[in-house]
Amino acid sequence: MNCLVTGVAGFIGSHLAEELLRLGHQVVGLDCFIPYYPRAFKEANLVELRGHSGFRFHELDLRHDDLLSVMADVEVVFHLAAMPGLPRSWTDFDLYQSCNLTATQRLLEACHQRGALRRFLYVSTSSVYGRYASGDETLPTRPISPYGVTKLASEHLCRAFADECGLPLVVLRYFSVYGPRQRPDMGYFKFIDQMLRDQPITIHGDGLQSRGNTYISDAIAATIAAVQAPPGEVYNVGGGETANVWEILSKLERLLNRRARVQRGPARPGDQRVTGADTSKLLHHLNWKPTVSLDDGLARQVAWQRELVQHSRQAA
Ligand SMILES: NC(=O)c1ccc[n+]([C@@H]2O[C@H](COP(=O)([O-])OP(=O)(O)OC[C@H]3O[C@@H](n4cnc5c(N)ncnc54)[C@H](O)[C@@H]3O)[C@@H](O)[C@H]2O)c1
Repeated sequence: MNCLVTGVAGFIGSHLAEELLRLGHQVVGLDCFIPYYPRAFKEANLVELRGHSGFRFHELDLRHDDLLSVMADVEVVFHLAAMPGLPRSWTDFDLYQSCNLTATQRLLEACHQRGALRRFLYVSTSSVYGRYASGDETLPTRPISPYGVTKLASEHLCRAFADECGLPLVVLRYFSVYGPRQRPDMGYFKFIDQMLRDQPITIHGDGLQSRGNTYISDAIAATIAAVQAPPGEVYNVGGGETANVWEILSKLERLLNRRARVQRGPARPGDQRVTGADTSKLLHHLNWKPTVSLDDGLARQVAWQRELVQHSRQAA
């Protein structure tokens, strides 16, 4: 199939595009390198893709560039481009609003004009549920961060295009994705990086906030499986193993064979207390279930970050 992956230079988008190509599909990727974290990370994510004959890259901003020209043969759209990350959404709302909502509106409008898509997959987040995000897709949606609000608004906008314009929409709500290429602003990346550099780690609040962790390859497998889902469905995507911050730190201490130096910081507004995906619906509809354990997944992320730190030391 001919696929469009938005946010292709990001953590998850780059893995998705690689897997689609490995399966023999054609991929058009777009990204505008929002400097939320350094462009060098995103360029590194694109290295393997750029060498593949089935891949075409367009440096485009969904908020204002022409989109129709890149959509000519596209059958399936995977919409991952967004401003992720929770803390900054309190202080830079315009960026979140424009990249999560306006960008989605422009993409939806282009898809509507283009017509005849097989599927439009919108990648959403457990943050749409709010403080307690543990359960299935029927949980109430009460986001407690501007990030979650913009992602939920974007889901609603997709739904409006689905209900009124026939967009073949499937929504995926990811729960805390981790693994190689994780964004450098994310908790596990920071913990591992700081431990490798023997720097102190700041734990916000009591550290008992827990996450339903999803290894990157499991998230990608669910995303590709969802192309076969009936239009209109919403699915939680979660790895099945929850852990709080202290549990993660002790796993990392074992993997790195060193103690974490912990300092305490205030709780952060918008931080979810518990997230844990019930993914029975994905299992029943698409026979998807996670395959990578938290211990194995963290070991793979640690191995990747060891190399990053080594390279940065050699370059210094
Ligand atoms: N990482 C997670 O744990 C997680 C959890 C839940 C949901 N998600 C969702 O998954 C998606 C991907 O997240 P990620 O962690 O890979 O983030 P990421 O920041 O690594 O990737 C997003 C990419 O989108 C691009 N982008 C943003 N606005 C754009 C615009 N206007 N035009 C073109 N490109 C634009 C960015 O430059 C970036 O490369 C997001 O939609 C996010 O909300 C991620």
